[in-house]
Amino acid sequence: MRAATDVASPVRAQNLGHMKHFIDTQDFSREELEDLLGLITLLKEADYEDAVPPLLHNRSLGMIFEEPSTRTRVSFEVGMSKLGGHALYLKPGEIHLGRRESLFDTAKVLSRMCDVIEARTLKHETVLELARDAEVPVINGLTDFNHPTQAVCDLLTMREHLPAGRTLEDCTVVFVGDRTNVCSSLMFIATQFGMRFIHAAPSAYQAPPEWLAEARSNGAISGGSVSVTSEVEEAVAEADFIYTDLWWWVDQEAEIPARRAAFMPRYQVNAALIARAPEHARFMHCLPASRGVEVTDEVIDGPRSIVFDQAENRLHTEKGILAWLTCPTIKHSSPERHRLHEERIGDYLSRRGWDSTSPAPGAEHLRTGEVLGGTRR
Ligand code: CP
Repeated sequence: MRAATDVASPVRAQNLGHMKHFIDTQDFSREELEDLLGLITLLKEADYEDAVPPLLHNRSLGMIFEEPSTRTRVSFEVGMSKLGGHALYLKPGEIHLGRRESLFDTAKVLSRMCDVIEARTLKHETVLELARDAEVPVINGLTDFNHPTQAVCDLLTMREHLPAGRTLEDCTVVFVGDRTNVCSSLMFIATQFGMRFIHAAPSAYQAPPEWLAEARSNGAISGGSVSVTSEVEEAVAEADFIYTDLWWWVDQEAEIPARRAAFMPRYQVNAALIARAPEHARFMHCLPASRGVEVTDEVIDGPRSIVFDQAENRLHTEKGILAWLTCPTIKHSSPERHRLHEERIGDYLSRRGWDSTSPAPGAEHLRTGEVLGGTRR
């Protein structure tokens, strides 16, 4: 979505003991990511039978968005609701984030009120800072460097659409276009899972050496590989999955003429380019797409496109990530403690005339605030 040139080698987040943040797939081993994918798959199957367990009943997710979003916002909010919890949409101008209040204070306050935080921030450093100071798990919902929840979703989607008889390790994913945050995350997760990753782009827009070095380290363990090329026609001829992303983003308007000249027409995923790929190759896009720019309608709406399966998988992925990170941090009260508190509060309220055997009037008192003998602020 956004060219990620400023933060080629970000500091990694610290995952502390039982409390983990989800800032970068590189913070996790392949085994941990497999474990997460297992939970995502179980929750997807449960969702298809309308049987998602309320794992996050009564829990709250604070969602910070410094940039607009459709998929990330909706998938986290709906996912939290399906798990029995609640999500709050927090955007600059409506909260004090980093302006009238420091990030440190925001992280501390949200940690006291929410059980988990999701943040889409302009700068990668911002989400790292939040994670450093928060006392609940923080999930990266996209920064200028990466998009790790999208990457997990993409891996799941590729697994669901593998060519017959093949595994991920047998497959090649060709990313056509700019070195965006989505490109970096896909490169890292693909090489962690033993895939061959090719970035096809004009030389000025190819993945930087720092990313390639990290992806090659992944490949040294997994058997995967990474390469860059400007020969997009040759790259797609070897593709099992062809992936593209926007060529420019909201603050890159001044670069549009140069970027259009660099990418168009050679790097547009159109019928002529995709015809060079094997018959079974599938087309992917994280969305939003600029139809007629990086991809044509006939490709994105065509039989090889899996973009809406991919978009739906964001929902299942977010459910899995939310439960995977948050469930281990929840301390459940025993039924005895529940009964004790119910009795204590019932006694308190009945001394003020509330009949605890008829909850509706009691709830009415609570709504007006009269029961506590005062007016609510
Ligand atoms: N793919 C993605 O993150 O989409 P949104 O920007 O709509 O969240």
